[in-house]
Amino acid sequence: METWLAACFALVLLSLTGRARTAYGTPQADFEEKYFEQWLDHFNFETYGNKTFPQRYLITDKFWKKGVGPIFFYTGNEGDIWDFAQNSGFILELAELQNALVVFAEHRYYGKSLPFGAVSLQQEYIGLLSIEQALADYAVLIMELKKQYGARNSPVISFGGSYGGMLSAYMRMKYPHIVVGALAASAPVLSVAGIGDSNQFFRDVTVDFQNYSPYCVKAVQEAFWQIKDLYLAGAYEIIGSKMSICEKLSSKEDVYQLFEFVRNAFTMIAMMDYPYKTDFMGHLPANPVKVGCELILANQDRLRGLAAISGVFYNSTGQVPCFDIYRLYQKCADPTGCGTGSDSKAWDYQACTEINLTFDSNNMTDMFPEIPFTDTAREQYCFSKWGVRPRPLWLQTHFGGSDLAAASNIIFSNGDLDPWAGGGIRKNLSVTLIAITVKGGAHHLDLRASNPADPPSAREARSQEANIIRNWVKLAVESTDS
Ligand SMILES: *[C@@H]1O[C@H](CO)[C@@H](O)[C@H](O)[C@H]1NC(C)=O
Ligand SMILES: *[C@@H]1O[C@H](CO)[C@@H](O)[C@H](O)[C@H]1NC(C)=O
Ligand SMILES: *[C@@H]1O[C@H](CO)[C@@H](O)[C@H](O)[C@H]1NC(C)=O
Ligand SMILES: *[C@@H]1O[C@H](CO)[C@@H](O)[C@H](O)[C@H]1NC(C)=O
Ligand SMILES: *[C@@H]1O[C@H](CO)[C@@H](O)[C@H](O)[C@H]1NC(C)=O
Repeated sequence: METWLAACFALVLLSLTGRARTAYGTPQADFEEKYFEQWLDHFNFETYGNKTFPQRYLITDKFWKKGVGPIFFYTGNEGDIWDFAQNSGFILELAELQNALVVFAEHRYYGKSLPFGAVSLQQEYIGLLSIEQALADYAVLIMELKKQYGARNSPVISFGGSYGGMLSAYMRMKYPHIVVGALAASAPVLSVAGIGDSNQFFRDVTVDFQNYSPYCVKAVQEAFWQIKDLYLAGAYEIIGSKMSICEKLSSKEDVYQLFEFVRNAFTMIAMMDYPYKTDFMGHLPANPVKVGCELILANQDRLRGLAAISGVFYNSTGQVPCFDIYRLYQKCADPTGCGTGSDSKAWDYQACTEINLTFDSNNMTDMFPEIPFTDTAREQYCFSKWGVRPRPLWLQTHFGGSDLAAASNIIFSNGDLDPWAGGGIRKNLSVTLIAITVKGGAHHLDLRASNPADPPSAREARSQEANIIRNWVKLAVESTDS
């Protein structure tokens, strides 16, 4: 708490001195965008020999006090690195207070870090996409930056949200001599390793809407039932016109595409249920669960209401004349959605190899239609799409699954509104493996810049994280000094 007050005070002072910052006091980073010649294959000296590819990273030494300050290293996840840099303002706020050098590194095969250029996502070139290669990229880059910046003794803290949060934790586990501590925000380390139950995700999406209002959930269920009844009666046109679908619906497959398209809007709204407007994964209003529920409840016609709630995610511009359900939602090995475009292909491949996301909805423990997604379905899909079969237990074997006691210095933070939280670490596992819950927080809210609309718990979490990180850095510096 004290640190938080000190932080606020420092921010006020700094804004008086007129340094560039956003409306709420988060400093502007002025990142430099750079490329590093990274090894193509860290684990095989034969096939690619000494071949490299340009890996993108963003860096700012604006806050850094050389000789004193740590390195804050964001382990990029499944997308363009700028998206994460622009949605993780907390790291900059902390860097300013703790005088850190800040790096956001892009994950191989995403954004502009394509190992084989434009053909990278073709099956014959995608094999170098793995968690292990990505972690090795980060380790090699950190060693190089320490050299370039004369920062040999600067302790490194890794940061990340979601899959990036998993990577941040894994960096500490696999490279403890390089990373002294990790903040793993909303990192579903358990569910992706196949620990937990396959109903958890969509059940927790439903709970968010239930918490706003049980009537909202009832309205959504009624809407899905009506679609099902209309489909059984062959009334495709009514479904299509009331739901504003561009395509002409004519099969069971189309109806299930529609179901998944709609379910995905609910997923995104629940994950991004922030108390202010955001432009992160999509463009959403403040409190989108509330906004969506109000829309469906205000509509006499359930199907038009369901279209309206879907529009909160798919029609944020208000310029979408009709929903092109096959273009806006693309089925993949991740039932919570891979997105669209080239990054989504890379994610699909990861969900087909190391990352297990066999979540399904069942119209019993959740409000969605029964849409099964079994191990067998995943395996068949992955084999026909990429020629690969998922390897059961690999992630648990390599990263420990729930047996993390051998690790240390990791903060696992989770928001209780986040459907991913149920697949993460929610209990303290030891004195240095700390679980923090952000009450009223959606997907890694704590990593985002401070905002006056934040729930008090987000402020407390950030302040606690700041203290823990400061302490890790202090201990690391002391141990190198002595
Ligand atoms: C790779 O090895 C070849 C010789 O085998 C050498 O000519 C080349 O400069 C090396 N490239 C790099 C990036 O080290
Ligand atoms: C994936 O996770 C589920 C639990 O969600 C588990 O039942 C299944 O065995 C896992 N599959 C693989 C291939 O590891
Ligand atoms: C998108 O929003 C606009 C403005 O509210 C509305 O006129 C249009 O019908 C919406 N599109 C769909 C597909 O619902
Ligand atoms: C969900 O289950 C109820 C009760 O069994 C059934 O009437 C309804 O049609 C189901 N909804 C869907 C979309 O399958
Ligand atoms: C874990 O321990 C920290 C103190 O180190 C405490 O603040 C936090 O509430 C604990 N988390 C849980 C989930 O009990």
